[in-house]
Amino acid sequence: MKKITKAIIPVAGLGTRMLPATKAIPKELLPIIDKPLIQYVVEEAIQGGIKEIILVTRSGKEAIENHFDKNYELEHHLESSGKKKILRSITKLIPNGISISSVRQDSARGLGHAILCAKYILKGEDFAVLLPDEILLSKDEKNDFSKMMNFYNSSAQGQLLVEKVRKEELSNYGIVDLNKKQLNIDSPKKINKLIEKPSPKYAPSNYRVVGRYILPFEVIQILSKTTPDKNGEIQLTDALDELVSKGQKSIDAVLTNSKIFDCGSKKGFLGANIAMAMNDKSLKKYMKDIIC
Ligand code: UTP
Repeated sequence: MKKITKAIIPVAGLGTRMLPATKAIPKELLPIIDKPLIQYVVEEAIQGGIKEIILVTRSGKEAIENHFDKNYELEHHLESSGKKKILRSITKLIPNGISISSVRQDSARGLGHAILCAKYILKGEDFAVLLPDEILLSKDEKNDFSKMMNFYNSSAQGQLLVEKVRKEELSNYGIVDLNKKQLNIDSPKKINKLIEKPSPKYAPSNYRVVGRYILPFEVIQILSKTTPDKNGEIQLTDALDELVSKGQKSIDAVLTNSKIFDCGSKKGFLGANIAMAMNDKSLKKYMKDIIC
């Protein structure tokens, strides 16, 4: 079995929930404290063992690629003014041995379509997908994505991260059908079915898919044939449901052990900033002074 080395990070969405902030600035570059969302997720992928990062991007979002590129003028300025610590924070964002490349999605036609845009770079290999607007604050030393990579390495099966949500939130997410009795953070469970944004009445469980996936290449073949929904979008959840329902490949649910923030929404973005600041030694006292 070949190890997973490639991760797709889709960044071609329009970010409408965070307007007007995202009118000219890509959502993925909004900062949690002083680091953009995309950098947290790229670091998480690399920590999990990913060697090739593939950004799916669009026109107007070139600043994301620039963030990982060299900025000679800035580096020269920081070097000559002796600001070594700040200099280190902008160099080597991508360590040696790791590559970052990009492909374009011509219009925002959904997550499934974005993933399909990376088809030719995957070269038939299983792959990971990480959504950069979901920020995970791990309660463990080993983060959820690294655990998923380990589970894949021992089972060769696809992995989806899941989180328990409240009933009223079910219709916002992809929901999995699984035997929840045995689900715990150390033991992944087989997914029987997936439903995109069900009404609470028809939701098969209270577990929603979080934006961390390890997927068999067969998903790409299904996505190539998936017809767009009524909004013209190709949904990843529908393709995954077809894959598991037909028994073509098994996919397991991995229960998260993180606090998850949907930074594509105002609440999640604010929550992530506050939680990270409370975790930061140099900011904790200041945060307590202004909040409490
Ligand atoms: P979201 O649906 O959360 O992002 O997609 P969005 O569409 O940008 O946001 P809203 O709903 O309009 O506020 C999750 C991730 O998938 C990417 C987004 O950039 C985001 O990182 N995405 C989404 C694409 O790359 N292409 C798409 O067609 C849709």
